[in-house]
Amino acid sequence: MSSSHTPYTKERRKESSELRSARWFGPDDLRSFGHRSRIMQMGYAPEDWAGKPIIGVINTWSDLNPCHAHFKHRVEDVKRGVLQMGGFPVEMPAITLSESFMKPTTMLYRNMLAMEVEEQIRAHPVDGVVLLGGCDKTTPALIMGALSAGLPMIYLPAGPMLRGNYAGQQLGSGSDAWKYWDERRAGCITDKQWLGIEGGIARSYGHCMTMGTASTMTAIADAMGLCLTGVSSIPAADANHIRMASACGRRIVEMVWEDLVPGKIVTRDAFHNATTVAMATGCSTNAVVHLLAMARRAGIDWTLEDLDRMGRTTPVIANIRPSGDKYLMEDFYYAGGLLALMSRLKEKLVLDALTVTGDTLGENLEGAEIYNEDVIRPLSNPVYHEGSLAVLRGNLCPDGAVIKPSACDQRFQQHTGPALVFDSYPEMKAAIDDENLEVTPDHVLVLRNAGPLGGPGMPEWGMLPIPKALIKQGHRDMLRISDARMSGTSYGACVLHVAPESFVGGPLALLRTGDLVRLDIPNRSLDMLVSDEELEKRRAEWKQPEPRFERGYGWMFARHVTQADKGCDFDYLSPEFGRTAGEPDI
Ligand code: FES
Ligand code: MG
Repeated sequence: MSSSHTPYTKERRKESSELRSARWFGPDDLRSFGHRSRIMQMGYAPEDWAGKPIIGVINTWSDLNPCHAHFKHRVEDVKRGVLQMGGFPVEMPAITLSESFMKPTTMLYRNMLAMEVEEQIRAHPVDGVVLLGGCDKTTPALIMGALSAGLPMIYLPAGPMLRGNYAGQQLGSGSDAWKYWDERRAGCITDKQWLGIEGGIARSYGHCMTMGTASTMTAIADAMGLCLTGVSSIPAADANHIRMASACGRRIVEMVWEDLVPGKIVTRDAFHNATTVAMATGCSTNAVVHLLAMARRAGIDWTLEDLDRMGRTTPVIANIRPSGDKYLMEDFYYAGGLLALMSRLKEKLVLDALTVTGDTLGENLEGAEIYNEDVIRPLSNPVYHEGSLAVLRGNLCPDGAVIKPSACDQRFQQHTGPALVFDSYPEMKAAIDDENLEVTPDHVLVLRNAGPLGGPGMPEWGMLPIPKALIKQGHRDMLRISDARMSGTSYGACVLHVAPESFVGGPLALLRTGDLVRLDIPNRSLDMLVSDEELEKRRAEWKQPEPRFERGYGWMFARHVTQADKGCDFDYLSPEFGRTAGEPDI
């Protein structure tokens, strides 16, 4: 495929005096005197900064984010690269979004990090930025903020952690936690084994090493052209990761001189490539909200329909759990990684899309090889014949819902069953642990009030636990529906992101226990078999729940967050909302 781009050539387009940072440090006036004297306060001399691109290294390190533990050191490797190329690096810490520890969910704070990044870049004397992220929401948040700021940027992905291991068995982040938790509930594993799994499932720094949200989003950033092409697969603990960090530092200095701003890279073609790669990797369902949100920030019309359209024609070829059956990100890297995967998808990608390297995606894929055909499958022998996501519509989800057909029992492709509806997570939890709960494998478990406003923050509750009564009978999958999200490492027949959410009066709010629900994945539909008349009656009786927040960030979040089909960004952050004050100064 081909397309046209703004002509770009790798050459220096700027004089030192034209650097944005020169406005802080150059003039012979009182303000600049202040800036110079204050940078000298830290022991720097004009030789350190004068006439050089100042590179902000935005670091989402924290003692509470194990996925980013190595960023404390990687930031120094980035700085080394910046210095080698004649730039001046400055570290700028930003809030981390630690999937492991934040309550109620990191998604409540994705937009907060995005705003922090945008405003940090805008307010400070920097000419370009390196973004250090990887744990789930950090990737979209950093990119959303940096896209809105518009300075040259490069994304440094944290890299996956090593494979998990216990008693000689490989363990995958998330997926095996859910799997063995069900085994424990069924009484099939001992406490000693459970403790062994606890100590073996996360063995090094780096993000989750299944194809969860982290691996999905870093692959997306990479395919969008925002990474040194292919580096998102390098394991965090590999020495190649350290070298990659300093290469990012070197390259961002050149990008500043070349004026290679994100607008030249993050085009509609970039979203085409990112979506293709996401589908082929068996991506996390979270990719949906983040792709939509990033596209809106970039001013590109990219919708649920685009995702579904591409899902229908892109097979899953990365045999990585949870869509695949046995491999993890470390295996993917040894098989050639994302470069190899993209080389296999060449006819489906826009190869003349520009990347941060200054070369096109096609140029960067030259010579890529696949070293293990079982990990990166041929198109003729995919893991799943369609892409990993399908978008559903119907009277339960007029603005859409999402399912991951590649990770669910195939008997749910078409399914009709009675609903078992819960209004809150605690209510659902108490019921599913009740061994006398009246439930059959054909029932449809429903959790509502778990969307962007209801959750709040649309928590990853969507893989509702299978009722204990069914677990003991050997059942491990059933149809589940919610307006929540689910972890990228989750699996099963889970319909997610129902929009509009029930908390704001979406039709999910009108469903009752016992109503028949019909899912038809091939026809992309999800309906409740209830007459319009009856639904009207129920709507008249529906009462809006009490707001979750009465002050603070949560209050502001609830006023401005958009629904899942729009990406859950704040309405006022999209470019069409209005001009940014102070923009001409950038
Ligand atoms: Fe950080 Fe999974 S917990 S990526
Ligand atoms: Mg996750």
